[in-house]
Amino acid sequence: MLAAYAARVSPDDPISALEVGDRPDPVALDSSWVTVDVRASSLNHHDVWSLKGVGLTAEQTPMILGCDAAGVDPDGNEVIVHAVIGDPAAGRGDETFDPKRSLLSEKHQGAIAEKVTVPRRNLVAKPPELSFEEAACLPTAWLTAYKMLFSRSGLRPGDTVLIQGAGGGVATAAIALARAAGYRVWATSRSESKRSKAIELGAHEAFESGARLPARVDAVMESVGEATLGHSLRSVRPGGTIVVCGATSGMTVPVELARVFFQQVDVVGSTMGNRTELEGLVSMLVATGLRPVIDTVLPLAEARKGFERMIAGDVFGKVVFT
Ligand SMILES: NC(=O)c1ccc[n+]([C@@H]2O[C@H](COP(=O)([O-])OP(=O)(O)OC[C@H]3O[C@@H](n4cnc5c(N)ncnc54)[C@H](OP(=O)(O)O)[C@@H]3O)[C@@H](O)[C@H]2O)c1
Repeated sequence: MLAAYAARVSPDDPISALEVGDRPDPVALDSSWVTVDVRASSLNHHDVWSLKGVGLTAEQTPMILGCDAAGVDPDGNEVIVHAVIGDPAAGRGDETFDPKRSLLSEKHQGAIAEKVTVPRRNLVAKPPELSFEEAACLPTAWLTAYKMLFSRSGLRPGDTVLIQGAGGGVATAAIALARAAGYRVWATSRSESKRSKAIELGAHEAFESGARLPARVDAVMESVGEATLGHSLRSVRPGGTIVVCGATSGMTVPVELARVFFQQVDVVGSTMGNRTELEGLVSMLVATGLRPVIDTVLPLAEARKGFERMIAGDVFGKVVFT
């Protein structure tokens, strides 16, 4: 079958580690696993990290990339594939707390392919209101934003949220979801055109990265890391929350601890979401009419172009492969 895969890892030139070509069909581990015919998959920064060798070793290659897919199960049902492979019982009822959990494409072959094999419990019904392309955007970026905003931030409708790095997959999802939930939404971006798009998407105001804000915010959604965490700490109100799900610009950040303790700021980690949260996200999209922001749809055979766009920092929303 056709797939986009890490043939090797390359920390400095990730695109050189990518191949788009023929791979063996995935094999079900046991009878509790099912094979999904993938109709659409989507790209995440996670796939670029994998090509760089973060979370994926050279010994684990070749590895099919991709956490996110929507498709058709063996019974003909339209499904969304939940990307967290884990045991809820091992994580106090939540598979994202299972110490042995993994994401598709870390231990098991990933989703940017014609077929993907997952445990049956990882299938969530795709409502007819969502296209396969839209549904394929949800399991990582949109689910992560949903959990950050609604499970981890402590925000309530009417509160002000700052979303750093407006162009990213998580950030665009967070802007749209936060607006739909009744928050006052502020976003930052390095680029003027992405700031305009953030406003079109639902942000009440958009600021240059690092700019002084008119007021302190109740919570910050942080996925940029090194380049913005200092600004996040300066921008949150005393007693506010910074929810961190990633660090695209770098992981090593000197933290002004005085701000953390003196301002009593909660710095909260967040990873993906559990299956129940994915179902909640799907219901929210059906109820509100909100749909994922798609930057580009490409045939799987042209996946390389999508990776190149993401590595160049050129995307607004999600890159989808069909
Ligand atoms: N923990 C989890 O479960 C989870 C799930 C999903 C993603 N993540 C992580 O979250 C991060 C974002 O993921 P994504 O897929 O949304 O990635 P993405 O599409 O690559 O978005 C990253 C955004 O970060 C901003 N950015 C990058 N470098 C920057 C810099 N030097 N200065 C300021 N802003 C910068 C850019 O915003 P502007 O160009 O608009 O400034 C860019 O659009 C990644 O690190 C990913 O690994 C984690």
